[in-house]
Amino acid sequence: MKRILTGIQSTGIPHLGNILGAIEPAIRLANTSGTECLYFIADLHSLTTIKDAETRLANVRSVAAAWLALGLDPEKSLLYRQSKIPQVTELSWYLGCFMPFSRLSLAHSFKDKSDNLGDVSAGLFTYPVLMAADILLYDVNTVPVGKDQLQHLEFTRDVARRINHEYQQELFVVPEASTDERVMVVPGIDGRKMSKSYNNFVDIFLPEKKLKKKINSIVTSSTPVEEPKDPDTCNVFRLYELLATPEATETMKANYRNGGYGYGAAKKALFELILDTYADTRTTYDRYVNDPAEIDRVLEKCEQNVRERADRKLAEVRKALGFG
Ligand code: ADP
Ligand code: TRP
Repeated sequence: MKRILTGIQSTGIPHLGNILGAIEPAIRLANTSGTECLYFIADLHSLTTIKDAETRLANVRSVAAAWLALGLDPEKSLLYRQSKIPQVTELSWYLGCFMPFSRLSLAHSFKDKSDNLGDVSAGLFTYPVLMAADILLYDVNTVPVGKDQLQHLEFTRDVARRINHEYQQELFVVPEASTDERVMVVPGIDGRKMSKSYNNFVDIFLPEKKLKKKINSIVTSSTPVEEPKDPDTCNVFRLYELLATPEATETMKANYRNGGYGYGAAKKALFELILDTYADTRTTYDRYVNDPAEIDRVLEKCEQNVRERADRKLAEVRKALGFG
């Protein structure tokens, strides 16, 4: 059985880019036989940037609601909040005492963030140590991450090897990173990569009217209705083809190329396709968001299981390090 773990940032409601690029592939992986998946919401890490308590709570709930609504089965996989497993902060301390300061100070993500943020805390600096603890606590084989996280995975592998060597035992499993080269880049409403930072995202969980307004705000060229259009350079078509069947995509392509088909019609088709594709997901999401106790119940059941695993590993680590 291959054990797979990844952390999910809790920085707001997941958008269509997050869903197609990260959440749906992770759920497919979780539904593959021979895998055991641990997916957690990195709410402790979020404290490095988000200080407002209510925002954090709302973000965690909307992320959990989205994963559950998109089909993550909590009976088969574990979905949990990092902060509900306090064992991770104890392990983080131990690992920090083996992570060379000089190495941490070379972290690209720290350099990028500290150049751009006013709030440069010790927590931001030791972010990769907590991330190593997230992983090493569960004897994980594979960690799917984006390219920006590869260096953090290298730190994790190094510290695991260093401690195994120091204590002459295979205390930690040395994990492999996995990045998917083929992962699609979902365009935003302005044609750049869809991202929260560019505020160009489509939130599929919006009420219908607002979703329609968002789709209508997708940037298009000024080619008149009657003229032929190039589907491949159109932001509406690029989103449409990510969700449509091959037949519907061909029909839409022909509409563009034949002329007499306006962007208004294409936007209406995209809007309807989103509603159609995510009808059940939207209903389930609303149900969860309006019933936070239910979200907590689902997460808590997973967290109980995860805490037991964490306790077992931590007992091994304490023993090896001479904490009895
Ligand atoms: P954002 O850029 O909105 O802040 P994150 O950096 O939090 O998004 O990304 C969370 C996950 O979603 C990552 O795995 C990332 O690769 C994926 N992702 C984000 N935006 C896109 C996109 N436009 N297309 C495909 N995948 C994306
Ligand atoms: N740092 C990751 C990110 O920004 C989130 C994360 C925290 C993570 N802990 C992790 C990812 C452990 C993989 C494994 O996306």
